[in-house]
Amino acid sequence: MKKLKNKIILAPMAGVTNEPFRISLKNLGLEVSCTEMISVEGLSRRIKRTLELIEIKNEPPLIIPQLFGTNVESFLRSIEILIEKNFNIIDINLGCPAKKIIKKGAGVALMKNPELIKRIILEIKKRFDIKLTAKLRLGFDENSMNYLEIINILYNEGIDAITLHPRFGKQYYSGHANWYHIKVVKKKFPDLFLIGNGDIKTPEDVKNIYSYTNCDAVMIGRAFLENPFLVIQWKDFVITQTYKEFSIKDKIKYFKKLFYLFKKFYGEEKALKISIKHIIHLTKGLPGSAKFREKISKIKNCVEFFNEIGYWEQNGEQFT
Ligand SMILES: Cc1cc2nc3c(=O)[nH]c(=O)nc-3n(C[C@H](O)[C@H](O)[C@H](O)COP(=O)(O)O)c2cc1C
Repeated sequence: MKKLKNKIILAPMAGVTNEPFRISLKNLGLEVSCTEMISVEGLSRRIKRTLELIEIKNEPPLIIPQLFGTNVESFLRSIEILIEKNFNIIDINLGCPAKKIIKKGAGVALMKNPELIKRIILEIKKRFDIKLTAKLRLGFDENSMNYLEIINILYNEGIDAITLHPRFGKQYYSGHANWYHIKVVKKKFPDLFLIGNGDIKTPEDVKNIYSYTNCDAVMIGRAFLENPFLVIQWKDFVITQTYKEFSIKDKIKYFKKLFYLFKKFYGEEKALKISIKHIIHLTKGLPGSAKFREKISKIKNCVEFFNEIGYWEQNGEQFT
């Protein structure tokens, strides 16, 4: 796990951490990224759309595919495919709270089934010589906080690293991530490679979670949507204790490159659809962004889209 030490890892985000987005962040210095979660049922059956999720080109040096599911055999067949494709670290999803996932007993619902978790890890470790990590929450809900029990099982079965997102499944993303529990895990399992996650937004947050919890690496998700420059800022902050704030122009320059990546991978129509979400995140809180959002939600094609962006870039503050 040395490769991950002191690193910022891009969190798995379904529908977000696709190849173009990962490449855009690699171009800003990101070194480690997860894929979005991948169904073991789809992958083990080599479904085309699922296989596309593990296509990688020009990516950050280390990509960690994340698997979700409940069937041990499907996990094993999926891992065989991932090994064929030269992946050597694989993450297991024990944290997704989405209804369609928990309905099948996967994601955070697996935390209610410690025996099955044990079997999945044991069988994988028995069959394959790969690094295995798991990402979990505090428990399914407030009445079933069992992260220490699950981590104990994972640890005894030889898990190589754990990411803790310290919220309950039922919370989704409400409230706040309680880093205290990350600190507890590190105290109880000092030699476990622990990745802290949840509500990290700034270089100061990265510093604080490291010093408060003693975790070994950090994982960041949503903040990258608003501030893709976080990796650069963190690297500067480590050396100088300060960092540059990036301007609207910097963000738009980044965005244009991201748009062309989406277009290259998915074609113009889909690129436009995905890009609207990204530009809304990127411009959140900036002067004139509310009005800009309103206008952007009505555009019909790429010409209108880039006209709006250009106009706002020049006149943003007058929109307020
Ligand atoms: C849109 C979205 C999709 C997500 N998809 C996944 C996923 O596929 N697998 C996973 O383990 N976590 C998923 N998460 C949770 C994130 O990986 C992360 O744990 C959570 O957002 C907290 O970190 P953050 O505050 O840095 O965003 C998702 C989160 C969001 C917002």
